[in-house]
Amino acid sequence: MMKRDVNPPKVIENKCIGCERCVAVCPSFVLEMAEEKSKVVRGEWCIDCGHCGAVCSSEAILHEGMVFEKHPKEGATPAIAPEVLDLLIRERRSVRNYTADPIPEQILKKILDAGRYGPTGTNSQNVYYVVLTSPDQIEKLRKMTIRFYEKLFSRASGRFGSFFLSLLAGKKTIEYLHDSLPKMTVAREAMNRGQDRLFYHAPVVVVTHAESWDSSSFFNCSVALYNCSLKAHTLGLGCCFNGFLVNAVNHDRKIKTWLGIPADHRCYSAMGVGYPDIKYPGLIHRHPPKVVWR
Ligand SMILES: Cc1cc2nc3c(=O)[nH]c(=O)nc-3n(C[C@H](O)[C@H](O)[C@H](O)COP(=O)(O)O)c2cc1C
Repeated sequence: MMKRDVNPPKVIENKCIGCERCVAVCPSFVLEMAEEKSKVVRGEWCIDCGHCGAVCSSEAILHEGMVFEKHPKEGATPAIAPEVLDLLIRERRSVRNYTADPIPEQILKKILDAGRYGPTGTNSQNVYYVVLTSPDQIEKLRKMTIRFYEKLFSRASGRFGSFFLSLLAGKKTIEYLHDSLPKMTVAREAMNRGQDRLFYHAPVVVVTHAESWDSSSFFNCSVALYNCSLKAHTLGLGCCFNGFLVNAVNHDRKIKTWLGIPADHRCYSAMGVGYPDIKYPGLIHRHPPKVVWR
């Protein structure tokens, strides 16, 4: 595990009411009870999660650089009812048709802000974003990504290249590429007619990246971007996650470098964002969960 800058909490003794809740919620054994007061005993293990301060009802915890805001809502019930959350989750769609309207910067900031409240392994908060808003830059990224896939599919369609790729990527991936060849041909024809079948003419493309040594990075970046997509939806915008782009960034050093992603990082999620041009009056059917109860 990488060493991190530690910023432990402080307990204001005369404010502590000895409820022990901060000790109970701390994931890192930072606090213990001593003479009926909470005490910092292993400050160097703190992961800055802020739970101690947020759970304290007597404002006895100080954490440099952190503000423990009062919850705007009275009572212990969650912020929204389960059926409202269900509907939000169910009505979010992958949007592949956008209006030409640009997204104001303050709206984009609101969307990105939702990403930082997602969970991250050991509270690393290691989600880095590249946000492309310039049509020229998006077009350049589109061209580089298409070039990557043109090369990949041309290799996959040849015997030698196909064999070589199967050694590198495995048989299943090559089968998938072969099966996708006809679809690629149709997509190429659509692109030749001026349709953007990669980003769907989204006015904004967001890419996340994080340190590849950290096994939580994939989850951290994916959850952060999913949060952003939900926030976007509530603001009247739509998003479409882009696995094609993620794959191209991680396999084409030129694209990764052009995006300014450090060599020791990987791209973990990406999406286009824009104002939807088509609304869905209906909800979508999904399979029941595949569960083994034990
Ligand atoms: C990891 C991931 C990668 C995706 N990549 C693409 C993509 O490259 N292009 C695309 O059109 N949709 C992409 N999608 C969108 C899926 O096709 C979509 O989520 C799925 O069909 C379900 O539709 P819904 O998001 O509206 O529920 C991706 C989704 C995920 C989760």
